Amino acid sequence: MTFIPLLTCLALLAPAAPQTNNAPSPVRIQVDLGGPSRPVSPNLYGIFLEEINHAFDGGLYAELVQNRSFEEGVIPPGMTLIAKPDGTFRMELASLPPGVPKDKWDMPWPWNGNSVWDPKRALIGWSLHNNGGNNSVMRLTEANPMNAASSRSLELTIAKPGAVLQNSGYWGMSVQAGSAYALRYFLRPGSFQGRIHAELVAENGKALSSSVLTTVKPGGTWREIKGSLKAGGTDPSAQLRLRFEGSGTLQLDWVSLFPPTWKKQENGLRPDLAQYLEGLKPSFIRFPGGCYVEGLSWEMAPDWRKSLGAPTERPGMWGYWQYRSTDGFGFHEYLQFCEDLKADALYVAFAGMTVHPENNWPLDKIDPVVQQTLDAIEYAIGPTTSKWGALRARRGHPKPFPLKYVEIGNEHPPAIYGDYYARFRQAIKAKYPQIQVVMSMFWSGLNQPAIDRVGDANIDLVDEHAYRNSGWARSNFTYFDRYPRKGWGIYMGEYAHNQRADFSAALDDSLFLMMMERNGDLVKMASYAPLLANVNKRDWGVNLIEFDSSRSFAHASYYVQKIFRENQPDRSVKTSVFTAPEPKSPLMTGKIGLGSWDTATEFKELRVFDGSGKLVHQDDFADLSAFDTPQSGNWSVKGGILQQTDLRSSPAMLLLKTPLTTGRITVKARRVAGREGFLIFFNAANRERFLFGNYGANGNTFSAIQEHGVPDDTAFRGGRSTPGAIENGRWYDLSLVISDDQVEMSLDGKKISEARMEKLPSFFATAGVRQKDGTLVVKATNYSARPQETELIIEGANARTGQGRQIVYQASALSDDNSLENPRKLLPREQSFPVTGNRIKLTLPPYSVSVLNVPTAGGKP
Ligand code: AHR
Repeated sequence: MTFIPLLTCLALLAPAAPQTNNAPSPVRIQVDLGGPSRPVSPNLYGIFLEEINHAFDGGLYAELVQNRSFEEGVIPPGMTLIAKPDGTFRMELASLPPGVPKDKWDMPWPWNGNSVWDPKRALIGWSLHNNGGNNSVMRLTEANPMNAASSRSLELTIAKPGAVLQNSGYWGMSVQAGSAYALRYFLRPGSFQGRIHAELVAENGKALSSSVLTTVKPGGTWREIKGSLKAGGTDPSAQLRLRFEGSGTLQLDWVSLFPPTWKKQENGLRPDLAQYLEGLKPSFIRFPGGCYVEGLSWEMAPDWRKSLGAPTERPGMWGYWQYRSTDGFGFHEYLQFCEDLKADALYVAFAGMTVHPENNWPLDKIDPVVQQTLDAIEYAIGPTTSKWGALRARRGHPKPFPLKYVEIGNEHPPAIYGDYYARFRQAIKAKYPQIQVVMSMFWSGLNQPAIDRVGDANIDLVDEHAYRNSGWARSNFTYFDRYPRKGWGIYMGEYAHNQRADFSAALDDSLFLMMMERNGDLVKMASYAPLLANVNKRDWGVNLIEFDSSRSFAHASYYVQKIFRENQPDRSVKTSVFTAPEPKSPLMTGKIGLGSWDTATEFKELRVFDGSGKLVHQDDFADLSAFDTPQSGNWSVKGGILQQTDLRSSPAMLLLKTPLTTGRITVKARRVAGREGFLIFFNAANRERFLFGNYGANGNTFSAIQEHGVPDDTAFRGGRSTPGAIENGRWYDLSLVISDDQVEMSLDGKKISEARMEKLPSFFATAGVRQKDGTLVVKATNYSARPQETELIIEGANARTGQGRQIVYQASALSDDNSLENPRKLLPREQSFPVTGNRIKLTLPPYSVSVLNVPTAGGKP
């Protein structure tokens, strides 16, 4: 078949005449069913599970007790604690790899404060209540461990009967009247004699459940207690209470409580969250990371073998996202979940490389790490006669699991990653030629130096990540159309509109899915990230499914993925979209103002001219009456000079009350102290969204026009940078010239940067065919606030007279979304439309994604 690029054509028509029966609609979607087509990857829609945002513990993994085995305070292997002068602690590598100078290593990675250590976490979840002067105490101990996996337990010295130990769960335990909760804990009686009552209590202390009563006699062996707590009341903030009626010193470990789980599986999953994942019908599941697989030190990178076996035998691990994981949802549970969802497994192996390139496992000693990956594959798919396959069989699963892909590491930027990848690939392919080996890329784009080291022929799939801002998808709708074809496929392992968690994100994500569907020869698989987040500990701003102890909801983007997945064509066909031109309007309108980034500055002689050159504001800073209350920073005026003294405002911002559409801003500025230079804001809404001339950007190394969020429907282009630093104590002449859609920035009369704004297209569509029944599937997104009269024109095949199906997902504003309080606010709805010929007129609602299914007699894809 000859290949014709499937660029969606955004041609401009003459302004649309008012609609009559025969008049063309303002939007035309022209679909060619007779021309060339491309495959849509059947495996495109997958999911990615990582222990981030308490996705597993305190989330999908249904365990209700937080810190059940008291290991939360165990310092991650390979790390050491450094006390800071302010009394807090940070973690550093215990020892540096040979050849790394000591002063080089100070954990420079600032992300998420993941080198911070909070000793109070050691007892997180637990509290001891001494009602009525009971002097009972608790402490962690390493004496008499319960088993090899448990380095610590809780030692309780009960002074008098009545002491109460409580666990508050992960921000409360959700308890439902009528449900039974499986309790299990271990105790070593020591000198304790008496009884222990276990029960659920409401936030106000009222008993919520039946209790499990245990009589304890002194002794030196560990004993397991099991029972069921039947809830008589409902409370999302319940706690587990152990009441000690007796006295003496005892040890407790592995205190666990499970609610009813998804499919009633033991050690199982929280039903509402598992159902959300099931609802996406993923064709594969990526696991366990993400940054989670990398570790801060190689010693703390996850080892799948430690996540196997009885949950009581799993030591758990400190994760990259700053909390400890029980590994209750371990490698076996993951594979089982894949099988349950009829999804392929995509396991991400530790590559021997951490998030800090200084701390990699030496390449010439990489064999044991490679072997660890080969063993993981053997566990998943090896014969039951093999060492790890036999263990799988002993765990009740003789059949192989559906492991199809293995990814080597996650987001390793240096070129040397190519050499690590090559070692793994060679070993995996030698033993398991059927496994697709995925090469990891970075945040966005390709790690070309690593690819060059490996050679295109030695790559099955590359995992490119795409966390994109508002407008990116609209500006880059042809991203994959233009992508070089090198013989390997792309897996978009982590993609998301990553700026706003609302309907606008869902619209952007719909475009991203369209872009991937219509490039199925290249883009084979994709998974959104991050998938799950407990709202009480978000490590990441934009997530797909969020929850607290009892409630959950899916953001709008979830439903876009769901309807796209449920209406997946198997061939994409040439689609052209024709829209009427938008009326031209000034794009730079907004507030203007002055500021700085972590820098003390002075300004004088501010002048603002409008587009006709008229002076509209002159400020010699007698006071600040022309300005809004400062958005941030420490601002004052003195002797005609405006001063900003806060060195920690990123940025300090002072905006004029009157906005500017077009014109010129001039001001003199002097740097006093700090890291950078001056800012002139324009097109600003507030501290969250603005454009700015940044003098002395990036640690005072260059100057450029930059953006920090743009208005809806626009894109920022340009922003050339000019190298050079701003000196202290010298007055500079700054100016910005703003026209309808352009801006120029000058320093001391010399132009140093320019940029422009573009109005983004507001209508997008792609189409494909489901071959088994000849259904034409059209996906269309309308960003506009207006309903869009649309004509669908089918060429190359005949529509079959009958009913079409339209799935509409719409919001009343771009900022709309579902929430914990209103989880079903925005749901897709379905309606039918008549099909009487090859031209179909439809109205696509404002702010909407539509999926149209049209019966046809089939083309010749
Ligand atoms: O999805 C969140 C994080 O983003 C992942 O851990 C990492 O791979 C990426 O940087």
